[in-house]
Amino acid sequence: MISSDLRDKLIQSACEARQNAYAPYSHYRVGAAVLTEDGRLYTGVNVESASYGLTVCAERNAVYKMVSEGIGRITAVAVCTENAGSPCGACRQVLAEFAGDVPVWLVDDKGNGRETTLYTLLPDHFGPEHLT
Ligand code: THU
Repeated sequence: MISSDLRDKLIQSACEARQNAYAPYSHYRVGAAVLTEDGRLYTGVNVESASYGLTVCAERNAVYKMVSEGIGRITAVAVCTENAGSPCGACRQVLAEFAGDVPVWLVDDKGNGRETTLYTLLPDHFGPEHLT
């Protein structure tokens, strides 16, 4: 169970990070924040490219930052967009590599939105347990 203080901090971090989004082509700015088992918080933004297909989503950038720091498990996620949009399929899959059925808050730039969970977003997922 995530405290409301921590939830607010996670959401605020995602929305603050969103200001650094590099989205000159789509103009759809995304900020993400992941909370780790040991209470750390990692943020990411979408980074687009003039070679459009090289764009990387905010959620994956947050996860890759976390893994680069040697941290392995996610306990909650927040994603901040202009319209509380939902993570793409690729990001759901990458989040599921490092998280169980954790809470996911999808919010707009005022912090309003909804709470869901990772397995609601990605039911019956393929994961590391299938590769033993
Ligand atoms: N985007 C994300 O950052 N996360 C998602 O889960 C969906 C899409 C970005 C990619 C691109 O820069 C912009 O949003 C429009 O697709």
